[in-house]
Amino acid sequence: MLYIGIDLGTSSVKLLLTNEKGEIKKTVSRDYPLMFPHPGWSEQAPEEWFEKSLEALKEITDGIDKSEIKGISCGGQMHGLVALDENDNVIRPAILWNDNRTTAEVDYLNNEIGKDKLSDYTANIAFAGFTAPKILWMRNNEPENYKKIKKIMLPKDYLAYKLSGTFCTDYSDASGMLLLDVKNRRWSPEMLKICGITEEQLPKLFESYEKVGTLKKEIADECGLSTDIVIAAGAGDNAAAAVGTGTVGDGMCNISLGTSGTIFISSDKFGVDPNNALHSFDHADGSFHLMGCMLSAASTKKWWMEDILRSKDYAAEEGGINKNLGENHVFFLPYLMGERSPWNDPNARGTLTGITLDTTRYDIIQAVMEGMAFATRDMYEVAKSIGVCPSRTKICGGGGKSPIERRMIANILNITVDVPVSEEGPGMGGAMLAMVACGEYATVEEAAAAIVKVKETIEPEPELVKKYEEKYQQFKSIYPALKPVFPKIV
Ligand code: XUL
Repeated sequence: MLYIGIDLGTSSVKLLLTNEKGEIKKTVSRDYPLMFPHPGWSEQAPEEWFEKSLEALKEITDGIDKSEIKGISCGGQMHGLVALDENDNVIRPAILWNDNRTTAEVDYLNNEIGKDKLSDYTANIAFAGFTAPKILWMRNNEPENYKKIKKIMLPKDYLAYKLSGTFCTDYSDASGMLLLDVKNRRWSPEMLKICGITEEQLPKLFESYEKVGTLKKEIADECGLSTDIVIAAGAGDNAAAAVGTGTVGDGMCNISLGTSGTIFISSDKFGVDPNNALHSFDHADGSFHLMGCMLSAASTKKWWMEDILRSKDYAAEEGGINKNLGENHVFFLPYLMGERSPWNDPNARGTLTGITLDTTRYDIIQAVMEGMAFATRDMYEVAKSIGVCPSRTKICGGGGKSPIERRMIANILNITVDVPVSEEGPGMGGAMLAMVACGEYATVEEAAAAIVKVKETIEPEPELVKKYEEKYQQFKSIYPALKPVFPKIV
């Protein structure tokens, strides 16, 4: 039997085709642009997501026995606001997870409604990228568009809607809307009232591994596929990646270094970080998780390599840095889109500091890669401060493919890093959710136990841990010093 996991990312949509054993048969991706219509804004066209996904679906199913395909699950970028009118047309471009336009709305929610109330209603507070502040932004800034809203959905739910005709979402992704009562897995009546919306405007809630419908006839005909193909609810990309790396059950950890960077800790009990620096969300396996999210992770390295150095030869650039680990005097704050965890500061900016006349290009790529790991450590410190301290983690995402970055993570966090055989976290996780929806496995945990294997383990090296501890203390002092400066230079 064959299953497809769709990962609707920020720079591309990636499809993965696997059998029930997790043996990957094919992967296909299609890029699309990210639009920045104003500094700090970030938008994409949902119609383009669908068009590219359909192209990729046709390519990935080309030349295989189509009758073997049993299920598809859509996963992808969280928090984005997709608003449809009464004719199911997209009202405006989707406002994405790394968009910072909602400062006034976040301020209203956190300070006028109050963090305590928000945390009571949803288990979380407002962050610029979350969906509820975006709905309020539309109400405040585009009242004509706001009035037209008939359906509110998340990015991957738009795909599921187009593929199955079911207006649905799953608990893991819905958790990031600031509209869900995460503990009780239901929409929060208080939050709906605050945003001036009704439950009819919101999708039906499912567990990630539940079937929401089957492939619509017109899509099935266009792709030469069967209308029996099951569409699973799917999950937000981080929960899907956690499933794909076997981060299910209690106390497991996954670090994902994609466009964003996240630390994801699974839990069988509901819990809230008292300072709300970590998000408290539902997990795709039916339980819960805590998560920190840095807005720019592998995207900082891509920016440095491709936009500044105009090179795609990552290996050559990284080749120069190996001898200098733990000794770099250049530091990079990776806040190219402001920062979410742990600072919740849309004004924070990327910063290179410590440069001297003898600084080489290798010191800078090293600083950029270390910046990713130091910022991950910042989030790990928050988890430790509330008594959640996993001693080993899985790793996935484009940034986690570099052996040097993995070594940095192991030593800067002083944590054992397990590298799964399949590094396609969200795509594989999505396919596994489709397998459960089709009855191939009884539970997500069972699927993970059967499929996820570790191919390499990186242990922290005591000498390097010591050197990096000193460097982390230095890194840690930079943001507080610059915090008052950032609002003056935005
Ligand atoms: C998580 C988050 C990002 C996006 C990226 O809260 O905002 O990881 O899901 O796709």
